[in-house]
Amino acid sequence: SKKPVRVAVTGAAGQIGYALLFRIASGEMLGKDQPVILQLLEVPMEKAQEALKGVIMELEDCAFPLLVGIEAHSDPMTAFKDTDYALLVGSRPRGPGMERAELLSINGAIFTAQGKALNAVASRDVRVLVVGNPANTNAYIAMKAAPDLPAKNFTAMLRLDHNRAASQIAAKTGKPVAAIEKLAVWGNHSPTMYADYRFATIGGESVKDMINDEAWNRDVFLPTVGKRGAAIIAARGLSSAASAANAAIDHMRDWALGTNGAWVTMGIPSNGEYGIPAETMFGYPVTCEGGEYKIVEGLAIDAFSQECINKTLAELEGEKDGVKHLL
Ligand code: NAI
Repeated sequence: SKKPVRVAVTGAAGQIGYALLFRIASGEMLGKDQPVILQLLEVPMEKAQEALKGVIMELEDCAFPLLVGIEAHSDPMTAFKDTDYALLVGSRPRGPGMERAELLSINGAIFTAQGKALNAVASRDVRVLVVGNPANTNAYIAMKAAPDLPAKNFTAMLRLDHNRAASQIAAKTGKPVAAIEKLAVWGNHSPTMYADYRFATIGGESVKDMINDEAWNRDVFLPTVGKRGAAIIAARGLSSAASAANAAIDHMRDWALGTNGAWVTMGIPSNGEYGIPAETMFGYPVTCEGGEYKIVEGLAIDAFSQECINKTLAELEGEKDGVKHLL
């Protein structure tokens, strides 16, 4: 049987944590033959640590055959020790009335500390997914704080946007969501992301031709996908958690186990592809194989797409600028 791998999860007692940990432990993320040790991090506050204890009791009570160890931590320097995978979920999302500078500085501190801890103690091959918002910029901060780790191993979650886009296209075309191939989401995990179905196919047929409605793309599809998070908060009174956890599972599973040629979306540090400045943590269409992702290159970018990409890039550059002094 396989040697266990270590999976660190931050914000483990939060909403997403509750929807995520049980699926990691059951083998949905890394395979039904891969034993895991969970290294769970929460803030030191007693209430959070108590809640974490409760989650751990429930994990124990599932008697998952693949779950061979569970650790509770309040310090990233111990939580990330030798970890092979790190899912950084805990962060400080923007609250009502919170200034942008305040948001960026609080998260700057969190993700600088966590990047440094990964740099110091994690496996040299650790694969990092940042879920906590603002996800792209938090991933960028962690990457910059971890100069001894491969920059390419720091990623941000765009997969929820990808899955939301796929679901809208399935509804529009009346086709099964699993039949949709070659969908791309570019840019920031924010309402500015650009979900792009120009290359998408269903059964080899062009989705763009099937839909054949540019007004729907611009006025319905993009705003629906972009504002989906807000729509869920309005309906549920809480931000999306199960679908976010599901997207995190998809992202890590595909990265670790491969996509068999299928396109998925990951937020990854640019090497200049598609004219995006190097190091920008940007959503790109990728394929995964052998534990590595590869950007789908050579796609034509038309004027409307370029405009959308420029807009989401400008937002990311603004965020990057806002944290410059923290790095
Ligand atoms: P939540 O508030 O229920 O849980 C967050 C948990 O993180 C809390 O238990 C908190 O104590 C913990 N935490 C905060 N700072 C921490 C730190 N420095 N170290 C360890 N733990 C820490 O929030 P929820 O719903 O689980 O969401 C988590 C994050 O994910 C939020 O930032 C949210 O905006 C983001 N999110 C991102 C999505 C994406 O697509 N990238 C989608 C949905 C949510």
